[in-house]
Amino acid sequence: MFLKGVRQLIGPLSQSPGRRPFPARPSLERPFQFSRQLASAGTLPQLTKDRYPYVKRGQYANLDHHHLKYFKDLLGPNRVITDTDECQGFNIDWIRSVRGYSQCVLKPKTTEEVSSILSFCNEHRLAVCPQGGNTSLVAGSVPVFDEVVLWTGLMNEIIHLDDTSGVLTCQAGCILENLENYVANHDLMIPLDLGAKGSCHIGGNVSTNAGGLRLLRYGNLHGSILGIEAVKADGEVIDCLNTLKKDNTGYHLKHLFIGSEGTLGVVTKVAISCPTKPKAINVALLGLNSFEEVLRTLKKAKRELGEILSSCELIDNLCMDLVLKHLKVPPPIGQHNFYMLIETHGSNLIHDEEKTNSFLENVMNEGLALDGTTTNEVSKMKSIWDLRERITEALLHDGYIFKYDISLPTESFYSLVEIMKERLGDRSHRVCGYGHLGDGNIHLSISVSEFTKEILDLIEPYVYEVTSKFKGSVSAEHGIGFRKPKYMHYSKSNEAIMLMKHIKNLMDPNGILNPYKVLPP
Ligand code: FAD
Ligand code: MLT
Ligand code: ZN
Repeated sequence: MFLKGVRQLIGPLSQSPGRRPFPARPSLERPFQFSRQLASAGTLPQLTKDRYPYVKRGQYANLDHHHLKYFKDLLGPNRVITDTDECQGFNIDWIRSVRGYSQCVLKPKTTEEVSSILSFCNEHRLAVCPQGGNTSLVAGSVPVFDEVVLWTGLMNEIIHLDDTSGVLTCQAGCILENLENYVANHDLMIPLDLGAKGSCHIGGNVSTNAGGLRLLRYGNLHGSILGIEAVKADGEVIDCLNTLKKDNTGYHLKHLFIGSEGTLGVVTKVAISCPTKPKAINVALLGLNSFEEVLRTLKKAKRELGEILSSCELIDNLCMDLVLKHLKVPPPIGQHNFYMLIETHGSNLIHDEEKTNSFLENVMNEGLALDGTTTNEVSKMKSIWDLRERITEALLHDGYIFKYDISLPTESFYSLVEIMKERLGDRSHRVCGYGHLGDGNIHLSISVSEFTKEILDLIEPYVYEVTSKFKGSVSAEHGIGFRKPKYMHYSKSNEAIMLMKHIKNLMDPNGILNPYKVLPP
């Protein structure tokens, strides 16, 4: 069946789905995989201590040769990095917006080693910055001053996969994409997918409660993570590495570590519930004229695709222009003000095709979508997904980026972009929006030639005031990190922030874990 006005990219529908097992989505190209080298290449970002002089170094010890001797005795010399050039990539964040000056990166392999490191650092009042793939977009993963970096990249063992229950247990330093490939061989999938999957670690994902591209369907990590093992600031190991779906024995401590961004403990192992890999996947890209039509299409997608809808993402025209230019690819459909990427995951190709085609026909006939393309071919789905997933990377070529990751009621989703566009006028290169429409999570990006305090002051706190007026959240999925502690109050009450501070004091009384992050001073 051909859709009126929809360019058909659909693969050979006539093939029997039973005889054509649907292949897993291929790995995306991962230019950011080499973030550490990239981070330390080219002009260095200003030191964080100079750019943000109001943040003062805490009363922590200065690293000395006694400390280094302890670390080297514990880990061996190769797993204690002190070379300035080698440390550089661990000091600079992925979007090159901050720079610490740590002179020590530790690379433990086991929970016991993490425990010994933290116990020692706690006793000697050395501040520690836990780091996974260093893809944080809120400057949470790099030192602000000279904190010791505890990097989890060598903690990369898969411990067990129960392919009946679908529970995968692994160390925290496993790269998300490696886990995805591993479970795919067992007809399972990781319930989290994001553009940084080639670099980010599952421990980093858990510590940020990362949302990603399919939260709409698979929920967030508070639901999928069944168990966690973590090490407290004093070195005590908290074993909550449960693999049961149901366990109501007392307080659910694992939730304290999910999303606490390395401030309450270092996550060392996780158990994650993996759904069955979908046998049928469809991806459609639609072009629309107005945000009003986007909203109506979203509602229709939810109603008509129902249980097979796995993703519903928005890209505005400025983001699309930039990503097409960056990827050097021709536009897959005509030019429009908005684009929606809609994906389905199901178990029956014919059934899903019918549903998807009927939905697309309806949105075309009703004049909601003006143009579109749909496919179930792996390479074509990848090309469409690239347009969405690689916006972050494309933006880096547009100058210095002020990034905002905001939750808003769906009807106000795009208003923030329009408001900021008007406020900034020609003082920015580009004010654009994209994101997880189905979850009400917009990524507002403002690119300028270079960072200046004047432009920062024009944007913040205004952007958060507007967010608060819309009853939104100042962080939907990236966390608070270093960038947002002073704005947390726009989304949380004083009482809630005080309780968080009490919990922090209880679990890390000396404040050695990821200081200057998350909690307002
Ligand atoms: P890092 O960046 O290394 O660390 C993140 C935070 O967790 C830091 O505060 C760090 O101290 C802490 N941490 C790391 N490991 C541990 C540990 N084992 N124990 C305790 N604390 C730890 N986020 C989303 O939510 N959705 C997206 O769709 C998304 N897409 C992205 C796309 C790109 C291209 C990039 C660069 C980033 C994206 N992010 C997204 C942001 C980022 O949060 C995620 O990439 C990821 O969850 C971070 O994992 P990481 O291993 O890189 O952690
Ligand atoms: C995304 O959804 O692409 C990520 O959260 C990264 C970003 O905000 O750019
Ligand atoms: Zn996102």
